[in-house]
Amino acid sequence: MITIDRAGTFTLGHRTVNRLGYGAMQLAGPGVFGPPKDPTAAKAVLREAVARGVNHIDTSDFYGPHITNEIIREALHPYPDDLVIVTKISARRGADGSWIPAMSPAELTQAVHDNLRNLRLDVLEVVNLRAMFDVHAPAEGALDAQLGALADLQRKGLIRHIGLSNVTPTQIAQARRICTIACVQNHYNLVHRADDALIDALARDGIPYVPFFPLGGFTPLQSSALSEAAARLGATPMQAALAWLLRRAPNILLIPGTSSVAHLRENLAAAECVLPDDAVSELDGVARMAGLDKPVAIHQR
Ligand SMILES: NC(=O)c1ccc[n+]([C@@H]2O[C@H](COP(=O)([O-])OP(=O)(O)OC[C@H]3O[C@@H](n4cnc5c(N)ncnc54)[C@H](OP(=O)(O)O)[C@@H]3O)[C@@H](O)[C@H]2O)c1
Repeated sequence: MITIDRAGTFTLGHRTVNRLGYGAMQLAGPGVFGPPKDPTAAKAVLREAVARGVNHIDTSDFYGPHITNEIIREALHPYPDDLVIVTKISARRGADGSWIPAMSPAELTQAVHDNLRNLRLDVLEVVNLRAMFDVHAPAEGALDAQLGALADLQRKGLIRHIGLSNVTPTQIAQARRICTIACVQNHYNLVHRADDALIDALARDGIPYVPFFPLGGFTPLQSSALSEAAARLGATPMQAALAWLLRRAPNILLIPGTSSVAHLRENLAAAECVLPDDAVSELDGVARMAGLDKPVAIHQR
């Protein structure tokens, strides 16, 4: 049996969660749109995650839309006491599966109610406001009205904690003047390291950083250097990539996504892969090789 406790814990809001969690986005159909081919298999992944100690699940009502939350509810409700479900809002899906910004206070309020209903919860433990000024990357823009609306919902008892996603350091600093920010969820992994300084700054303030696409996202990381480093550790490349994130900073909480029980088990076993210093340097080298000097070292499948 894998012991995910070895990866340690960190504070998220006023809860303590295992640093190895699970991201549920892959449970919807292709393109995160519509139902999965096998809903029973999707529920089995969630039940296996919880059985193996996962107590932090990341989701959104715009996965499907609504489908992923419904699968979570059907698989896990009534929820274990220690389970923290984190959701995100501020987008809706077009009929063609496109991701459409839905950032007005009225749309955010509606999204909170949709998440409560579909997850069958009375209060959402953490809601991440996902900035949509640019769908694909953080971009500057004021979030005051959006955070004001969320703070209002928090006062009404529908949201316990507010987080941010797809945001810049400036937006985080401005947000922290409006409300307490429980976590930041941005794109980050072994080869996508724009947030290096931000992670260290958040660590100093005890704020969790939750990298999305920790394995590279829809096209997981593939690199001969990563494979070789992993083999020397007796680990798989995905385990090495996750173990590197666990070593990178104590405030990093992992939510690798998968639709497969076998991949879930493999990913959770990264908790047992403790990287020696020389392996960290070697994997840092993989990241450097992904830079402009050697762009061919990392490719996506
Ligand atoms: N805030 C945001 O804007 C945002 C954006 C994207 C994602 N997220 C969140 O972040 C979570 C993680 O991101 P993600 O799921 O997109 O990407 P990810 O965790 O980096 O990688 C998921 C991909 O890796 C594959 N995979 C997983 N484990 C594997 C293994 N052991 N071996 C080989 N392939 C493996 C999955 O395919 P299989 O299904 O075949 O395993 C899937 O294609 C999501 O679930 C979601 O909750 C947030």
